[in-house]
Amino acid sequence: MRNIITFNGKEALSFLKENKCRQWEEKALQAMEILESGQGKGSDFLGWLHLPSEISPTIIESIKDIVEDWKKDVDLVMVIGIGGSYLGAKAVIEALSHSFAALLPSDGPRVVFAGQNIGEDYLAELEDVMKTGSVACVVISKSGTTTEPAIAFRIVKQHIERFYGKEEAKRRIVAITDSSRGALRNMVSREGYRSFIIPDNVGGRFSVFTPVGLLPVALSRIDIEALLKGARDMEQVTAQKSKDNPVVQYAAFRNALYENGKKIELLVNYHPKLHFVTEWWKQLFGESEGKEHLGIFPAGADFTTDLHSMGQYIQDGERHLFETVISIASPNRSLTIPEDTENADGMNYLAGKHINECNKMAELGTRLAHVDGGVPNLHIEIPLLNAYYLGALLYFFEKACGISGYLLGVNPFDQEGVEAYKKNMFALMNKPGFEAQGDILRKRL
Ligand code: PA5
Repeated sequence: MRNIITFNGKEALSFLKENKCRQWEEKALQAMEILESGQGKGSDFLGWLHLPSEISPTIIESIKDIVEDWKKDVDLVMVIGIGGSYLGAKAVIEALSHSFAALLPSDGPRVVFAGQNIGEDYLAELEDVMKTGSVACVVISKSGTTTEPAIAFRIVKQHIERFYGKEEAKRRIVAITDSSRGALRNMVSREGYRSFIIPDNVGGRFSVFTPVGLLPVALSRIDIEALLKGARDMEQVTAQKSKDNPVVQYAAFRNALYENGKKIELLVNYHPKLHFVTEWWKQLFGESEGKEHLGIFPAGADFTTDLHSMGQYIQDGERHLFETVISIASPNRSLTIPEDTENADGMNYLAGKHINECNKMAELGTRLAHVDGGVPNLHIEIPLLNAYYLGALLYFFEKACGISGYLLGVNPFDQEGVEAYKKNMFALMNKPGFEAQGDILRKRL
């Protein structure tokens, strides 16, 4: 079980003094103990720590019931949510679905996302799509009051009620929200929707292993039990009180590099399906660590694609970056480069080779070039991209994030900074109660 995920920091060692690295490992181990004992900052938000092993079978059954129910007659599921109420499900679905799923026949409802933006064109186009088939909706908001999903939900709810009637809407709308507070919970009580609870002690960006992530993923026909099993096994692996614990290692290296002036972490993948895993990771670390004018800036790149846009900067721009590469040992599919009798492109030297072999050489060559160029490189490897290893990877990052936030000295589990833009937006939209602030802001525009 020890090799579910391999972490390797050796390509960063030359950028660090050896004793510094040891000191950070020591501190990371202590930070993990504080996290696990519930004695650190924000400890009322540690429900995610044992979610994979403690999730109730009743929840899994209820998720499966909805999947079965909608399989009968639903073509399109609108999943509405933003931030932590969207990115986990999006990351898993994109990582584990066919890259061209939208162009292939579907063996069940298609899942689309809304409420993660306020684009008028986006929502108008969503209305176009809703008219093409039988629609259901999962609306997700922990607070139940977030503007972006609330706008999208109004539109989807009105469509469902108009097309199917209020009674049938009860079957076609599922809400995932707080147990007692917020407008969405009130709607559940008034309208009689089926619902799931986001536990009080689990913040949005740590909620992928609750129904927030699991229901949309299960609706996409992905094996949520395998996802949870991977996370559960990782929960066990990362419980070891040792400096070799991969989460201790990762948290220690990134903080040692940060102390050494590496202020930006670039999470790099060589597999386009991981693009939204990076987006999820960016929120996880950005919202957890970016506080008190501190924190590594989490950025992402999809290689080799972005080597043709960002490669120059990474190789030779300001030296404030380090890279963390997510590597996948083997592909799920097999395809070789064909021979061409004319060889007009001069590529016959690659004929018969697996595409993945070229991808691996790109990965290794880039790693060496970037290290030579002054970019420390951390390496995380999973054997395969499937539900089990992805569950393990997501849990790995969650736990490393909690430890890393404590190493930085911040509360990794709040997000006060997100409120500033919301207050201004409410004021500028004349939300009752915000009028005076609106006048002040308009004078500044
Ligand atoms: O991680 C978080 O807490 C945030 O990103 C929230 O998930 C996001 O702001 C959405 O909030 P809510 O689920 O309350 O609508």
